[in-house]
Amino acid sequence: MAILIKTDAEIQKMRRSGEALREVHEAVRPLVVAGASTMDLENAAAAKMEALKAESAFKGYHGYPAVLCTSVNSEVVHGIPSATRVLQDGDIISIDCGVIVDGFYSDCAVTYAVGSPSPTARKLLDVTQASLEAAIQQAVPGGRLFDISATVQEMCEAEGFGVVREFVGHGIGRSMHEDPQLPNFGVRGRGPRLKPGMVLAIEPMINAGAPEVKVLPDGWTTITQDGSLSAHFEHTVAITRDGPLVLTR
Ligand code: MF3
Ligand code: CO
Repeated sequence: MAILIKTDAEIQKMRRSGEALREVHEAVRPLVVAGASTMDLENAAAAKMEALKAESAFKGYHGYPAVLCTSVNSEVVHGIPSATRVLQDGDIISIDCGVIVDGFYSDCAVTYAVGSPSPTARKLLDVTQASLEAAIQQAVPGGRLFDISATVQEMCEAEGFGVVREFVGHGIGRSMHEDPQLPNFGVRGRGPRLKPGMVLAIEPMINAGAPEVKVLPDGWTTITQDGSLSAHFEHTVAITRDGPLVLTR
């Protein structure tokens, strides 16, 4: 399938979707403390979405049961919120959320430290977030898709971290997942030419150890095979004539 180009009016709508999603993340953030359960975060997100009249992009997606993915420590992505999963000092937690507003999707993930993280955890979060920011700067007209991929890979592998292969970023718009797929690894100078009106969910998923992951028997929760920590940051980014426009900031 082709990469869909959004009009300026459509990007405006996606901007509103992204703003709502940002508000959901901001409502959840204060609850990321030791003693809170991941279900507490889920409930706060669901309440905020209802107040904003933003629909969940995740709940019901292939049967996924929640509005958030809450992935703690060695969980990479798609951790399911649970009242018995209680955060502890030193944990890291990725909170991934997607909404639909006026027919347009946005998708955004942040990984937080609970209390005082280990030096390894802190570095993993900092490097992964920095790789997302550098990748966003590659989302410019005339560039190539895998410039984005290579930027993440180079920055994270330079620190000895493992780049997850099984999950990738994606185009986004009237669907959560549009073409193209956007791996977090690749060869600079290759891939489709980037054009104004493309909108991408850029989402490095980076392990402190080896890149391999496995899916638990619940069919969703994905963890690192070696038990190492994993971080995930994601923004929905429009490519405009003036450069990258982060819709979920
Ligand atoms: N943010 C994820 C993605 O980019 C979606 C989570 S899967 C879901 O694909 F089931 F929770 F929706
Ligand atoms: Co995504």
